[in-house]
Amino acid sequence: METQKKIKRLVELRGQARLGGGQKRIDAQHAKGKYTARERIEMLLDKGSFEEMDMFVTHRCTNFGMEKESYLGDGVVVGHGTIDGRVVCVFAQDFTVFGGSLSETMSLKICKVMDLAMKLGAPIIGINDSGGARIQEGSNSLAGYSEIFERNILASGVIPQISVIFGPCAGGAVYSPALTDFIMMADKNSYMFITGPKVVKAVTGEDVSVDELGGADVHSRKSGVVHFKAAGEQEGLNTIRELISYLPQNNMEDAPVAVCTDPVSRMDDSLNAIVPDNPNKPYDMKEIIYALSDNREFLEVQPLYAQNIICGFARFNGVSTGIIANQPKFLAGVLDCDASRKAARFVRFCDAFNIQILTLVDVPGFLPGTGQEYAGIINHGAKLMFAYGEATVPKVTVTVRKSYGGSHIVMSCKQLRGDFNYAWPSAEIAVMGASGAIEVLEGRAMAAIEDPTKRAEFVQQKEAEYKEKFANPYQAATMGYIDDVIEPRNTRFRIIRAFEALKTKKLSNPLKKHSNIPL
Ligand code: HXC
Repeated sequence: METQKKIKRLVELRGQARLGGGQKRIDAQHAKGKYTARERIEMLLDKGSFEEMDMFVTHRCTNFGMEKESYLGDGVVVGHGTIDGRVVCVFAQDFTVFGGSLSETMSLKICKVMDLAMKLGAPIIGINDSGGARIQEGSNSLAGYSEIFERNILASGVIPQISVIFGPCAGGAVYSPALTDFIMMADKNSYMFITGPKVVKAVTGEDVSVDELGGADVHSRKSGVVHFKAAGEQEGLNTIRELISYLPQNNMEDAPVAVCTDPVSRMDDSLNAIVPDNPNKPYDMKEIIYALSDNREFLEVQPLYAQNIICGFARFNGVSTGIIANQPKFLAGVLDCDASRKAARFVRFCDAFNIQILTLVDVPGFLPGTGQEYAGIINHGAKLMFAYGEATVPKVTVTVRKSYGGSHIVMSCKQLRGDFNYAWPSAEIAVMGASGAIEVLEGRAMAAIEDPTKRAEFVQQKEAEYKEKFANPYQAATMGYIDDVIEPRNTRFRIIRAFEALKTKKLSNPLKKHSNIPL
């Protein structure tokens, strides 16, 4: 009888914990179009796989009468479960408890599940929906954040870390997501900023709305802080599930290999015609990516930011592959500060987690001008070069069209330890384009010709000579900088063959404490 009473009490307590801050606040959360922490976890994980921990933890604060108001589990739900049968650790801040604000005990719960993730070698996914530091707890809350940040830093490059923003994430709290590998934001109700609109107004006089300052659109288009933007929470969590399918559990493992239903030797005749005859005419590089990858599947990372470069995950013969590709459709595929930063971080992620890299090149150069120079293009471009040059995962490069100067080198050239570097017959590998080169080489001769028609004819002839020599892949191929010139329609097969051969690749960098990447 006594035992039955005890079990009944447990069931009651569990029920109480599941209500978080109470039904009224749950209703308020729903009224805003938001799900609760537990609902989000259920939506993210395989059905019924969630094992919750620490649901009886309560805060210890006695300031401002806080001892009279306390909720089982405090403001975060933590535990582990599975995605497609693979273990992940999760925490979801519960806005119904003091606005999900971070207490000392909440940070202990989050740190506990982060430590578990490290111990298991499993990804950690954090769902953020919080009013920031719990004001009543003062520096205890700040210390709690710092404990989380330190764990984010130590886990970086060891287990995949993914942040989801489904509500407020303001002040120093933004730095936990910022330290993780990927950030997902929902289109509505979500914002991230260091200081809110009121403080901005007080300090700078600027009038700005919450969305303009730190909404999903701003962070996915302008700042580049966010990697995925979703129309709603369910869509966002589905994308996280998809993302996880491309990732290994940790840096000591490989990503799972999917069953490939797309023929390895599938030829695609459309690729033989995709590059326009006019080298200045754009085309959509994504069409090439879709044509090459298994079942035309591609999960793009940061699709709205620095669209002149494309980054994302696909599979080749079932093997997870990071793709980096210039996009001639956007700013002619030029490399600028934002594109360099975006691609560098992606290359480093792939390298840290043993994901092979395919690079598709069509790049006219680095974007010239004071705007870019003052913004530090030298530094940002160096990041991308560093990332490629440091990466030891299998690297296959296909030059589709232009590959000029410094941008040729940066985009995974042979000398940056590219393993297999192929080129299409449409490739142009040179120091610079024809018109720029003739301007430099023949400037004096051009100036000496007074008749404009004759000068134009002279320039045309010199450009034609230059193109004959360099607007092709063969000068580079004769030197062995390109391993083979391949027929475009056969590219999928050649890529898969190359990666198959690279399965046993072993390459390591000199021992060091860490490198000093130009940040
Ligand atoms: C304690 C908080 C809280 C906080 C919200 N609540 N934020 N309690 N500490 N930081 C409580 C509210 O009192 C309220 O309690 C409940 O959560 C819901 O909040 P509402 O204001 O009713 O919700 P809403 O209108 O949706 O507004 C959400 C909000 C707002 C925009 C997040 O609550 C807000 O501005 N909060 C303060 C944000 C803030 O300045 N945080 C500190 C940032 S500095 P009841 O009982 O009514 O349900 C920081 C430093 C971190 O975080 C440093 C790390 C290194």
